[in-house]
Parts: sequence; structure tokens; C-alpha cells
Amino acid sequence: MQRSYESLIKEAKIAAQNAHAPYSKFKVGACALFESGNIYTGCNVENSSYGLSLCAERNALSSAVSAGEKSKLIAIAIVSPNMKFCTPCGACRQWITEFSKDAKVILEKDDSSLTIIDIKELLPYTFEL
Ligand code: THU
Repeated sequence: MQRSYESLIKEAKIAAQNAHAPYSKFKVGACALFESGNIYTGCNVENSSYGLSLCAERNALSSAVSAGEKSKLIAIAIVSPNMKFCTPCGACRQWITEFSKDAKVILEKDDSSLTIIDIKELLPYTFEL
């Protein structure tokens, strides 16, 4: 199935509904599309020990790895019902680059149109081994 970026946003919105965010009340959902055509979603999961909270993007990417995904990351859509244009945090940018240096980050603007940004632009000079 050919996936549109709009469909990734839609899946990310569904995932955000499952967020466990009792402390910040800030819900986030992410949907990652791989070259295989598979998609994986994630939401943020907070903890009473705040620093242990997990971001939606990293949960989506962890789900992909756990499911055995081996192909390259094509794109990741990120949404929050609390904020339009919810950009990924620094740690999640580094995580995204782990799965492709050419991944696209899909964000929704105020008018509901999409912005597509190269991860390279969000995190230049990424750390690599
Ligand atoms: N959060 C994400 O899920 N992704 C990001 O890229 C930024 C922040 C979550 C973490 C925390 O649960 C809440 O948003 C507020 O920081």
C-alpha cells in the first residue's frame, strides 16, 4: 500500500490518544513509515519520576525495531493535540538519524497543511559511529 504523508499524520493522531501524560498533560503521537511499507506508531509515556518519561517518536521507532523491521526509515509524522507544529526534541532527532540520514519529518501547521523537513536540517552534524 502506498502511504500518503496525510495518512501518517492520521495514524499519529490516533496514537496520541493513547498517551500516558498525567504530569505534563501534553500528549504526543508519532507514526514512522519504513521502506518496507510498514508503519509503526507510538505515544509518549510519562512516569512519576519525570526524567524516565519516553517520547512518542522513540516509542514508535522502538516498536519498529522490536517487530523486526530492517528497512530504512522513510518518514516520521509527529503530532500533538496540544500544539500544532510539534517538532521533535533533540534526543528524538538523534534517534531518527539512527534509522536514516535522509528521513523526512512530517509536521502539521496551524492551517492543517503539512510541512516536510529533512532530518538533516533539524540535526546537522549528527553524531555517527
Ligand atoms: N514529548 C514527546 O513525546 N516528543 C517530543 O519530541 C517532545 C516531548 C513528550 C515528552 C513529555 O511526555 C511531554 O511531551 C512534555 O514534554
